[in-house]
Amino acid sequence: MLKFLSHAMLPTVNHDEQSRQDFVSAFRSHLSSEVMPGVYKVFKSRVEPFFHAKNGRLPANEQEVRKAMTVDPFYQFWSAMQRRSQEMLWEAVIDPTERQLPDLIKQAISKENIGSKKTMRSKRIGTLQLDPTLNIPRYHTAVDIHLQPGGYHTDFTAHDVAAGAIYDKGINLYMGGALGPENNLMGDILIAYLREKYPKFKPNKILDMGCAIGNSTLIWGRAFNNAKVHGIDVGAPVLRYAHARAAALGVPIHFSQENAEHTNFALGSFDLIVSHIVLHETSRSALPRILGECHRLLRPGGLMLHLEIPRGKTLMEQFMHNWESFNNNETFARYMTHIDLQIEAIKGGFVKKFITVDEWFPDMDVGKMNYADNFFWKILAAERE
Ligand SMILES: C[S@@+](CC[C@H](N)C(=O)[O-])C[C@H]1O[C@@H](n2cnc3c(N)ncnc32)[C@H](O)[C@@H]1O
Repeated sequence: MLKFLSHAMLPTVNHDEQSRQDFVSAFRSHLSSEVMPGVYKVFKSRVEPFFHAKNGRLPANEQEVRKAMTVDPFYQFWSAMQRRSQEMLWEAVIDPTERQLPDLIKQAISKENIGSKKTMRSKRIGTLQLDPTLNIPRYHTAVDIHLQPGGYHTDFTAHDVAAGAIYDKGINLYMGGALGPENNLMGDILIAYLREKYPKFKPNKILDMGCAIGNSTLIWGRAFNNAKVHGIDVGAPVLRYAHARAAALGVPIHFSQENAEHTNFALGSFDLIVSHIVLHETSRSALPRILGECHRLLRPGGLMLHLEIPRGKTLMEQFMHNWESFNNNETFARYMTHIDLQIEAIKGGFVKKFITVDEWFPDMDVGKMNYADNFFWKILAAERE
């Protein structure tokens, strides 16, 4: 695993906390490399043959696979362990965060830069605008997405930054370090995609929707250091953390608390709008509204790029991906399997001939990445006519 970058906003860990995090990481890695392949094996060796013997045919859809698999003891074992590993993951990052929370909040307040966009300080460390009146969408308040207590938006105390600190280390553990030393992989991938597919495109104003802690946003800020880069999210604690983290890492980003379905930016404000693993955490009605908002916010000739996780091709792969919806509160993710993103972009106002939906591996020469090269990603790209 590549060493995870330490910065001023990342909670430090004592000996016991470190060993707990190491355990969670090793446990999850063991489950995915040694136990999960067995789930595919039992499907082929006993669940599918049993289904066939009983029904005279193979399962016809993901629901039939689900019904047959959920009574299998090996699957039940893996599923229970996987769920527990997710709960342990948050426990392992919440403890050190809570221990250091007063200091983290102090740090964040000292970096807080609210107000004038013209000052030299804004140019150096960016800005933060929160909106306490913002209605948090129901798809965030109804459940704690991927079991993170309080999700991205809950303030447990004044000026809270805990959700951000927990998410930063949490996704590093969740992905076994594969997101890179700054959780930078998704930003790197989308930039590599832009450079390969639109080599002449040089944005001056970029918006990252659903930026959370700004891990991907920073990568855009560094890659296009003459551009003005904005990051929006519905969650105040992740944005406070994002602002302080970006300031600590020396990249000026303008963060604001807004709903991507209807932002406060003026028509045609951006050359480029990006998002990284956000759409599958919204809802059936929010998705076309977000793409419609992208259409409104892009200047003519502007471009939107949304990076998503492919949801699997075979019924069994889809069933395993949908585990996240049924057991890890990624409620909308399972619907993404069947949604045609091109149609959604058309609903949002984009013209068919300017829309591409790609499943894409980064070309190592383009991306210059030396980790996680076995990932492939789904990308929705559309130019504004
Ligand atoms: C899985 S996180 C992705 C974070 C980040 N983009 C990354 O690269 O890791 C999804 C983020 O999208 C945000 N989000 C979801 N729906 C949103 C909406 N309608 N408007 C703004 N942000 C939203 C969530 O609050 C959360 O921070």
